[in-house]
Amino acid sequence: MEITILLENSKLKGSNLSIEHGISMYIEKNDYNLLFDTGGPEESAIKNAAQLGIDLSKIDAVVISHGHSDHTGGLMKFLEINNKALVYLKKEALTPHYSKRPEGMKYIGMDSEIAEKYSDRLNFIDETTEIVRGIFLVPQISKKFSVPSSNQVLFAKKDEKLIYDNFKHELFLIIENNKDLVIFSGCGHSGIKNIVNTAQNLFPNKKIEAVIGGFHLQAGSFDYALANGEEIEDIAKWLKSEVDGKIYTGHCTGERGMNLMKPVLKDKLEMIYTGIKITF
Ligand SMILES: [Fe+2]
Ligand SMILES: [Fe+2]
Repeated sequence: MEITILLENSKLKGSNLSIEHGISMYIEKNDYNLLFDTGGPEESAIKNAAQLGIDLSKIDAVVISHGHSDHTGGLMKFLEINNKALVYLKKEALTPHYSKRPEGMKYIGMDSEIAEKYSDRLNFIDETTEIVRGIFLVPQISKKFSVPSSNQVLFAKKDEKLIYDNFKHELFLIIENNKDLVIFSGCGHSGIKNIVNTAQNLFPNKKIEAVIGGFHLQAGSFDYALANGEEIEDIAKWLKSEVDGKIYTGHCTGERGMNLMKPVLKDKLEMIYTGIKITF
């Protein structure tokens, strides 16, 4: 299995790829090509795919982790390029979502035109689904542990009222690789401990080879609603004991989150950057 980070908030020095706040990963597993999230509305992930020589028209499926624009922003453009891939997401991802910023409420939901224009391509998932052999989508995330404190600035619209987002619109991806599990999280709003714990409950006898994605330890790319040091250290310690392999993170984990996890996880923790490849 090979993963190419099409977009992450940062890139390596000297890289001429585009970056913006968001995440998108291109995954090749046997002969199946998958896109996990589509990056932000500047469509950097789509531009980077072209620059990296990845033919998006050949992608078999797109998985949308949740209905925020830094994960769904490239979807419209993708659907213009690719006329066959099914898009897997939770129905709740189409709900309007907002972020409370110092300057006021900002709309951060999906482009509503996608549901109007491409309803035949959207495939709503509400229970664990094996889309092809060894590739599982998990839309019901157990809440044994607390959710990230930085979710407190995130809202959903229900009956014309803004309510605290419960993240029912989030799902995650598990790929079986040589019998072990690789877990993909978008923003990890449900809590990365809850995501990993849900995977453990589904596959109690499997090792976790890697966890890849964002853990939402801060509000987007901003320096408010930061998770406190204890919350971050607790996550790092838990991941150290529960995950057999490596932890690859970036995006909404933030540089601060990574710096606080590093002393606990040491070489087990790897940062991801736009354009890098991870091979298992
Ligand atoms: Fe995000
Ligand atoms: Fe998000």
